[in-house]
Amino acid sequence: MSIREIITVPNEILKEISEPIEKFGINEKKLINDLFETMYDSNGIGLAAVQVGILKRVIVVDVSSKEEEKKPICFVNPVIKKVSDEMSLYEEGCLSIPDTFIEIERPKICEVEYVDINGKIKTQEFDGLLSTCVQHEINHLDGKLIIDHLSKLKKDMIIKKISKFKKNPDRIIV
Ligand code: NI
Repeated sequence: MSIREIITVPNEILKEISEPIEKFGINEKKLINDLFETMYDSNGIGLAAVQVGILKRVIVVDVSSKEEEKKPICFVNPVIKKVSDEMSLYEEGCLSIPDTFIEIERPKICEVEYVDINGKIKTQEFDGLLSTCVQHEINHLDGKLIIDHLSKLKKDMIIKKISKFKKNPDRIIV
């Protein structure tokens, strides 16, 4: 297992649509293990493969608290089948958008069909934080980020701020 580098905005790859995983081989299993390790290392509760530069439809989540036992779930080729009318509101952050939190309303409950870590097709319902987390990660697979919920002006401001911060070199006078 290894920790992979997390890609941040404004990297264009984050806007790409990820491809379904056709076969479940050793590389895919390694990718999943690396995603979990990278997510835990960054204290995130979810991570999509595109965030480490791999355009495959795979996400990992674990919303358990630090005191609890870990509850890792891996979703291959996840599809949202049903959503509730009832909504829930969370202030969401994203490992690909440092220091940015945005209030986003999403369906409180979602039903997701996916292939699990053992290659079995599953349909499962998620509620609350887990539901929001899964929807956030599936958005990544379609190139959608939390800043896409904002106006273009606000979005551009955030991207500019992050880009500036990242490219801020040491100032020297010679
Ligand atoms: Ni994210």
